[in-house]
Amino acid sequence: MEEKIEAIRKSAKEELSKIENLQELQELRVKYLGKKSDLTAILKGLGALSAEERPKIGSMVNELRKEIENTILEAEAILKEKQLEKQLEKEKIDVTMPSKNLNIGSVHPITQIIDEVKEIFLGMGYSIADGPEVETTHYNFDQLNTPADHPARDLQDTFYITEDVILRTQTSPVQARVMENQKPPIKIICPGAVYRSDTLDATHSPVFHQVEGLVVDKNIKMSDLKGTLEAFAVKCLGPNTKVRFRPHHFPFTEPSAEADVSCFVCGGKGCRVCKGEGWIELLGCGMVHPKVLENCGINPEEYSGFAFGFGVERIAMAKFGIDDLRLLYENDVRFLKQF
Ligand code: DAH
Repeated sequence: MEEKIEAIRKSAKEELSKIENLQELQELRVKYLGKKSDLTAILKGLGALSAEERPKIGSMVNELRKEIENTILEAEAILKEKQLEKQLEKEKIDVTMPSKNLNIGSVHPITQIIDEVKEIFLGMGYSIADGPEVETTHYNFDQLNTPADHPARDLQDTFYITEDVILRTQTSPVQARVMENQKPPIKIICPGAVYRSDTLDATHSPVFHQVEGLVVDKNIKMSDLKGTLEAFAVKCLGPNTKVRFRPHHFPFTEPSAEADVSCFVCGGKGCRVCKGEGWIELLGCGMVHPKVLENCGINPEEYSGFAFGFGVERIAMAKFGIDDLRLLYENDVRFLKQF
């Protein structure tokens, strides 16, 4: 009997050393420890043995059972570990592999220009002001010294919501709102959308963008306006940019001017961008009209100011060489991708 048990130990050991997977291990467990195993048969047959042999053989069988059980558990742990390793190997992710080409958007050219303009004026100590796009005729016109019979107020030119509520035609009403709410010194710019009753074509759009500027303080002079705009033009359009001022008329400035910049593509020689002129019209500006200051509760005897306003699309078109305004609104990705 002892030899038989020894033989079972030997063969179990041998078979266990050849096991390659969990299934084989399970089969082995059944074979050596199951109900029909040799060891179980010996236990069942213990009754036939002599009284001295019985406990000895019984404990030998139980010991071997425990031994085999432990060896199987160890083998199982190792096999499981190996299986996990195999699986991990199979599912390995190479984090250094180049990613799929995601389509990442870009900042719209109009927003790019607005951001750049903001950055320049913030650097000169300005704050950013904001105002409503749905505006009253009071702020859009009256406060800005633009009387009821002024052509800018024509139904043909402006989107009326009611008789005295419109879509703002310019960012200039923000000037009046800021002056009413803030004591000088005032130094603000206001970028935003404006609306005109124009048909969309290569150079017109019923909605476009402006940047307004306003400075009010003691002793503000025309030379301050010129210096400021020159500094801005150089920063925005390049170090060799020159600025020229032409007399003009705006109801809310006196004197008023339009400012042109030397063409930053040809440097003033004349090219496609400046249409052979050498100059590009940039903005309207002037000294804030005393009546406007007064309308907004600022004493024109004590304070003076300058203001300016320009179109963002115009700068974007010139700077990026875009010849049709509509491209800026169609948002064709093939177009936008270029900026
Ligand atoms: N608001 C004017 C326009 O839309 C532009 C302008 C001209 C703004 C002169 C100003 C200014 O602040 O002083 O045509």
